[in-house]
Amino acid sequence: MCGIFGCIARNAKAAPIIHAALKRLEYRGYDSVGIATIHKGKIYIKKDSGKIDDVHKLLNLDDMPGSLGIGHTRWATHGAPYQANAHPHTDCKGEIAVVHNGIIENFSELRNELEDLGHKFKSKTDTEVIPHLIEENMKKSLGLVESVREALKAVRGSYAIAVISSREPDKIVCARMESPLILGIGENAVYCASDVPAFLPLTNKAVVLENEEIAIIRPDGYEIRRITDWSLVERKLETIEWTAEMAEKQGYPHFMLKEIHEQPQCLRNTLRLQDKYLDLMATFLDRAQEIFLVAAGTSYHACLAASYMFSKIAYLAAHPVIASEFIEQEGMAVNINSTILAVSQSGETADTLEAVEYARLRAATILGLTNVVGSTLTRISRVYVVQQSGPEIGVAATKTFTSQLSVLAQLALRVAKIRGKVGHRQMEEIEKKMMEIPDIVERTIKENEEKAKKVAKKLKDKKIFFFLGRGISSATAMEARLKLMEITYIPAIAYPAGESKHGPISLIEPGLPVVFICPRDETRKTIVGNIMEMKARGAMIISVIEKGDEEIKKLSDEYFEIPGSLPEILSPIAFIIPLQLLAYYIAVEKGLDPDKPRNLAKSVTVK
Ligand code: M6R
Repeated sequence: MCGIFGCIARNAKAAPIIHAALKRLEYRGYDSVGIATIHKGKIYIKKDSGKIDDVHKLLNLDDMPGSLGIGHTRWATHGAPYQANAHPHTDCKGEIAVVHNGIIENFSELRNELEDLGHKFKSKTDTEVIPHLIEENMKKSLGLVESVREALKAVRGSYAIAVISSREPDKIVCARMESPLILGIGENAVYCASDVPAFLPLTNKAVVLENEEIAIIRPDGYEIRRITDWSLVERKLETIEWTAEMAEKQGYPHFMLKEIHEQPQCLRNTLRLQDKYLDLMATFLDRAQEIFLVAAGTSYHACLAASYMFSKIAYLAAHPVIASEFIEQEGMAVNINSTILAVSQSGETADTLEAVEYARLRAATILGLTNVVGSTLTRISRVYVVQQSGPEIGVAATKTFTSQLSVLAQLALRVAKIRGKVGHRQMEEIEKKMMEIPDIVERTIKENEEKAKKVAKKLKDKKIFFFLGRGISSATAMEARLKLMEITYIPAIAYPAGESKHGPISLIEPGLPVVFICPRDETRKTIVGNIMEMKARGAMIISVIEKGDEEIKKLSDEYFEIPGSLPEILSPIAFIIPLQLLAYYIAVEKGLDPDKPRNLAKSVTVK
């Protein structure tokens, strides 16, 4: 997730406006920053890696001529956060500049084709294909707008872009596919931005672009057209009533809720990761003699789920280990034949890094899955994959968890393919469902949010919760427990359901809430027995079920339904959603701030 901004003003210098707007978008990423302006037929660019203030101190971002320009604050996805990878990116002649938020899936093919045509690339980014594609189209005597349109027809993936050209210095061309883009309409200027807060101090009049739309903005107006059929779009101006703080959260009261709602898009991003890194990692995993999945907190729960995925479809044993226990538990066993797959959203968790460093010194192979390009984990991993969730501000991990699960499931599938263990049809079925997951999650949020609010009211004063699941759902249960505990401060217990009768069941008394995670998988039959055991002792049963599971519905005091059936290895991605919402709404009911739970930090960099 990056932030883009464009400004075309009647009588003002664009650079200071862009600089200030990028500061307001900095929450979307701060690996690098850059601005391009046009003045007297020439493009000026200042860009570098680092936070906006640091780069500004070095380069003075305000001191750029011209009343039209674009800017970018980067959350690195393709290419490390170096100066060369900072946006704006340009064509060969420096006549076209582009800023982009999103992922161009087919950039490798496009880059090869463009290089064959003689284009010279300066960065490792996916974005840089766009100015070169536009350049190629302009060579064919197309105007800027038409060239952008043709370029966008060639790219696959997600984008919000803003483009300027010194050959047509009277306009900014911007476009959107999946990544957000909003126009801000001022008295003497027009803006385009990834998010409303960027222009809110300048104007509260906005027009939201939809997918596959291009906008051409000029100081005195704008025009929106559909990329596909070039039809004109008439859209009413909206008046934004949000305060700056509300706008930063896109109107959501908390970042956690915003991030829960971002999950469908984040999952779509995980389906666009580059094959070569996933394949390489899958090859390492397939060849490994022993595998440890090492992580802390939520990332550990993703590893726990992954151990079931690898076993179930790739017939591969991968041992999940809590990072802070790794050296004690497995240390002496680690050697040159060990492979560590470390999972860390931040890539900076001290416990995880210590475990990884220990294993590295014992010559183990280190693989990393993280959300942060340039993090320590990416630097010490032999191969790493970046999950592309964008910054997560809420302390409670939500969108990064489901994205981790999606990447780990894709890895398991790839290893399964290499090993030829799973039949063609089953494989196809899982792959098909993988593609449907973002939509299923979107519907799950929509269909369960009101229910979560209602159930939260009912449960907010409960003193203790149980979370139970079998098989891969025991990982979902653990994660649901962590979400509830960390933001509501209600003690909670999570167990594999089969284990509950070996002790924890003695805690059950009438009215105690027990949450069961019940996908329709091989564990479905047995979990009914566990529900009966708890029900017989007066527990209040809350279940997460697949839509239409009438039997469990009847046994439950409250239930959340997941629309659509899912293969076992994918079920945690959807089944955790209602429980994230439930934890969130209980915290809100209790008057707590879910974004900043006491005693916790987003990234735990101490041991
Ligand atoms: O950045 P990491 O994934 O390594 O962080 C690990 C844990 O600190 C993190 O998941 C923590 O448990 C969250 N607060 C969970 O919501």
